[in-house]
Amino acid sequence: MKSKYDNEMELKFISKSNNEAFARVTVAAFVAQLDPTIEELSDIKTAVSEAVTNCIVHAYENTEGSIKIKATLLKNVVEIEISDNGRGIEDIELARKPLYTTKGNLERSGMGFTIMESFMDKVEIHSVVGIGTKIVMKKEIKKEENNEIIEEEKNALLN
Ligand SMILES: Nc1ncnc2c1ncn2[C@@H]1O[C@H](COP(=O)(O)OP(=O)(O)O)[C@@H](O)[C@H]1O
Ligand SMILES: [Mg+2]
Repeated sequence: MKSKYDNEMELKFISKSNNEAFARVTVAAFVAQLDPTIEELSDIKTAVSEAVTNCIVHAYENTEGSIKIKATLLKNVVEIEISDNGRGIEDIELARKPLYTTKGNLERSGMGFTIMESFMDKVEIHSVVGIGTKIVMKKEIKKEENNEIIEEEKNALLN
């Protein structure tokens, strides 16, 4: 397999809520090779967590389905695709709006896409009703000359 990226990985798992933590930690561990700051790593984990949770609760509505994550690195940019074969989104622009939700009883309702957008540089939503949804997020990992991050602290974030 010849890749146009510096590195890439794929992950496929079923839509069980236990796998949300597994997914965000795995993506963080993959991104760690770009030497991100703790804040950058934490932003990426939060965005992945929101997207995966959406697949579990909205795409499959807590039934069992498959979730795929593809992550690539090119120079200092990480791109993460999170896709499902679930119910799809009827109105993407509406779904992006802060506080818009089709499930009002959940915690932090309607802020998932807003959080993804604020923590990542770019968030694309591709969706077809009855076919599924793909979220593509990009983030540049800033190069820092005097990165005084303590390795231990970073390792703590990988759990
Ligand atoms: N993967 C998905 N499949 C189907 N619908 C989705 C998906 N992700 C998001 N949505 C729709 O977009 C809305 C907004 O999502 P979000 O901003 O994360 O808020 P919340 O999850 O709290 O409802 C959801 O209520 C849902 O209708
Ligand atoms: Mg959400």
